[in-house]
Amino acid sequence: MIDEPFFPTTDVLKSRGKAQLALHDRAARAALRQFGRQVFLRGVVEVSNYCRENCAYCGMRRDNRDLARHRARLDQMAELLVHHRPPAITDVNIQSGEDPLVVREVVLPLIAVLRRETRLGISVCLGTLNRPLYHELKSAGASIYIMKFEVADPALYAQLEAPGTFDERVKHIRLLAATGWNVSSGFIAGLPGQYDNALLANFTLAQKLPLAGCSVSPFIPGDETPLSKEPTAGIDLTLNCMAALRLMRPHWVIPAVSALNLAEPGSGYRRGLRTGANLVTINLTPPDLREDYLLYKRDRFIMTEERILSAIEAEGLQASKQSLADFYQQKKTPKTESRHPSIERVEVLNG
Ligand code: 5AD
Repeated sequence: MIDEPFFPTTDVLKSRGKAQLALHDRAARAALRQFGRQVFLRGVVEVSNYCRENCAYCGMRRDNRDLARHRARLDQMAELLVHHRPPAITDVNIQSGEDPLVVREVVLPLIAVLRRETRLGISVCLGTLNRPLYHELKSAGASIYIMKFEVADPALYAQLEAPGTFDERVKHIRLLAATGWNVSSGFIAGLPGQYDNALLANFTLAQKLPLAGCSVSPFIPGDETPLSKEPTAGIDLTLNCMAALRLMRPHWVIPAVSALNLAEPGSGYRRGLRTGANLVTINLTPPDLREDYLLYKRDRFIMTEERILSAIEAEGLQASKQSLADFYQQKKTPKTESRHPSIERVEVLNG
């Protein structure tokens, strides 16, 4: 049986009760068909909270003058990731505020060390840079770029002062994909002023973009932001968006983001795994830097390796032994090429 292409309606995104359970169940089954019980496990290090952007929802916005700004030290990060990372992680995401300086001083040399010393798959989430710098990052050994489009409604994007301009953000996502990166994007659900059409626009845009994955973050009224008094996004809306993404693009990698636990303390994360998510992250940023990496609130709920592994097990899933980077690489390499390199070569010689 071939499934109809799926596109959510507002009713689907707002479903509750039996209809919602059925939606989540269908999404979880789609993930199971596509990925089996495997869940990717990625460590995250936050290397700078300097940011040139001024997103209304984010505590690291440049107008937050009360925030102490730091950059991580290369040797500290290298030591942490090479010698003290949790054994179950197969990938690492190097993330930062939009701070081109840290890219040169810390991120590029860190990627070189990781490539030399480990088999970790390397993702980066560094905001919009330029072509030569993207190229350097890829040549150093990163292969996954996380660039969230944040909000697909251009008016809301401008109103919230989301990064750069909407058109530029989308252009960079396309540029990255066209130059060989596996691009994962993402949007925020439940933002103030995000009415039905603006919410649906996220799916219309995601569907058009050349992505390998996409996340949904619940809006968290960030401390020290102009939106601090607004209500937190509902966990149900967020999970419904995740389920809808899974059904729209069964082969995408969809993370259970850590903010799910802020939207529903204690169980948000596990419910994400029950809704077709197939990637989880462990924050590895040393506590002294983490405190001022103010994405949401000062008291972030930190998932340890132990908590994450037991959540995965409790949901009947398994931590993948293959890295996400290798998984993407394998998908790109035609089977004949990887299985019969000698035959390929003969054909090339004869042809
Ligand atoms: N609520 C939800 N997501 C947020 N982000 C930043 N601030 C918030 C918030 N208050 C997300 C954005 C950004 C990523 C690093 O964190 O999507 O791209």
